[in-house]
Amino acid sequence: MLSLALTGLELKNPLMLAAGIMGTTGGSLKRIADNGAGAVITKSLGIEPASGHNNPTMVEVDCGYLNAMGLPNPSYKNFQQEIDIAAGAGTPVIASIFGGCALDFSEIAGVLDADAFELNVSCPHAWGYGAQIGTDPDLVEDITKAVKAATDAPVWVKLTPNVTDIISIGLAAQRGGADAVVAINTVRAMAIDINSGYPILGNRFGGLSGRAIKPVAIKCVYDLYDALKIPVIGVGGISDWKDAIEFIMAGARAVEVGSAVGNNISIFKDISSGMEAFLMEKEWTLDEIYGMAHKI
Ligand SMILES: Cc1cc2nc3c(=O)[nH]c(=O)nc-3n(C[C@H](O)[C@H](O)[C@H](O)COP(=O)(O)O)c2cc1C
Repeated sequence: MLSLALTGLELKNPLMLAAGIMGTTGGSLKRIADNGAGAVITKSLGIEPASGHNNPTMVEVDCGYLNAMGLPNPSYKNFQQEIDIAAGAGTPVIASIFGGCALDFSEIAGVLDADAFELNVSCPHAWGYGAQIGTDPDLVEDITKAVKAATDAPVWVKLTPNVTDIISIGLAAQRGGADAVVAINTVRAMAIDINSGYPILGNRFGGLSGRAIKPVAIKCVYDLYDALKIPVIGVGGISDWKDAIEFIMAGARAVEVGSAVGNNISIFKDISSGMEAFLMEKEWTLDEIYGMAHKI
């Protein structure tokens, strides 16, 4: 009832683990896949191992989380065996990758064997990476083209909401040959400890995720669905089946869940069963609710 084809991948449901949450080992990725995710996405992998920003790197705030991890990762060079372990679950494994230029991205995509690549051009707190690249349409187009030339696997481009016009970045990814776009990465944000007067995060500022950003993400998905020919994958603040349905009605072909996984490892099973019961009660199919908010 929930199965679908997404950029050539067969998914048992449209629910995926978002990049950066429980995605640093093959064992944890497999555990999420075994717990009902339709696909899993790795932590973003770069050229060299990196330890990220100083602590604190994550803090809970009203309605969500602030993080400035700074892209800690073991490097793609040490990660193929983890992807292979995760693939043991029989669920597609998508490699999230980042770099400072097109050459970095194409080097990684040319070597790693994954079911698809998600290009992180949207992390808001890593100097020289992420959103520093993903706010420039020409760079996004060039990087997407370079990765497409380096691999036969589908290429998804993950967008930042920290721009004036997300559509122009989505169109650049589409021009570069992206098979899908993913919206959104975290929203640039910060918090200050009023007792000391210091910014709380080690990096001073970071990205907001969780419930607070869902309406922002819904609007981005809605606008991208109208403007692009390629599928949009929704992410941002999903914590139950109603949120997932809302994203699909906004125009997301599939969705990713990040922050909410921390509170509930079974969340993918819970969302799937809630969606199935809702669709049955309404006598709607997944295809019928896809982009429904545009048709009314
Ligand atoms: C602790 C943490 C680490 C993250 N690391 C990555 C990452 O490595 N690459 C990436 O593209 N997004 C990363 N993200 C962003 C998420 O994948 C997602 O886009 C964002 O958190 C919004 O979804 P959510 O509200 O469901 O968490 C991270 C988010 C969090 C909270």
